[in-house]
Amino acid sequence: MTRIFITRIIPDVGLVLVKEHFPLFDIWTPDLPPSRSELIEHAHGVDGLLCLLTEKIDGELMDVIGPQLKVISSMSVGMDHIDVAAATARGIPVGNTPGVLTDATADQAFALMLSAARRIPEAERFLRAGKWVTWQPSLLLGADFAGSTLGIVGFGRIGQAVAKRAQGFDMRVIYYDPTAEPAFGAQPADLDILLRESDFVSIHVPLTERTRHLVNVEFLAKMKPNAVLVNTSRGGVLDQNALYHTLKSNQIFSAALDVTDPEPLPMDSPLLELENCIIVPHLGSASKKTRDMMSLLAAQNLVAGLKGERLPNCVNPQVYK
Ligand code: GLV
Repeated sequence: MTRIFITRIIPDVGLVLVKEHFPLFDIWTPDLPPSRSELIEHAHGVDGLLCLLTEKIDGELMDVIGPQLKVISSMSVGMDHIDVAAATARGIPVGNTPGVLTDATADQAFALMLSAARRIPEAERFLRAGKWVTWQPSLLLGADFAGSTLGIVGFGRIGQAVAKRAQGFDMRVIYYDPTAEPAFGAQPADLDILLRESDFVSIHVPLTERTRHLVNVEFLAKMKPNAVLVNTSRGGVLDQNALYHTLKSNQIFSAALDVTDPEPLPMDSPLLELENCIIVPHLGSASKKTRDMMSLLAAQNLVAGLKGERLPNCVNPQVYK
């Protein structure tokens, strides 16, 4: 009998599809992710694993699961929690959910950019604290979008969707990504030039060994004093300690983070003391429709892998050669 472990309750549409093909499966129902030992216990001996970005799936785990493992499907586009090279070495196809979350994540990047520029969370805190006494010409002034320059670091699907939105806001858009062609009016630029010229910098690179702490002291020091930094990619791309000191000393205007390292962000993080830092709990793809589509795609990858078919979205197609 085919054995499956699904590491969390995912939107119904995906579970229904899995059930149609494989009526019996093990699913982790608590809100918190399984611990490493719980993951090992439940995944041991399975043919298919459907996981989230909260589970670390490395070669050791793959070996503990056993040689019968036919597919690893993650309900995420990011793959930094999975050792894809280890899966490839073992001939295991790995699936992810690209495309369906592009718009939602670009919307989130834009929402954060607007919130940071117009100081929305700070203004709301101000109002709720009873500090609004009158309309004032210089109360809580923010930054303009029209005529400003947006620098996009990483010009893949999501970076391009952000550029598309920026066109409607009359922004000049430049991007740093040596592998990408110009699109949506955005022009390529060296990273140094991008940082020197951008009023908004939005990060859209995956987390890899090369991009870990890409946003470090030197990166931040090159940004304009009025600049807003937005990160909707992965927390590990940014050195939070460096960001804290940069924001604390007002070297840039503000930052808005959808992702942190670690997640959840500990409540004693100094970043939480800062008025000019917005932090939300990793919600880039958090719309009902998007999460449904991610669930469906993850289920399709799982089912295809279990049936020995090519995954609709495979990150390591080398396994088929
Ligand atoms: C979300 O961050 C994802 O990778 O899908």
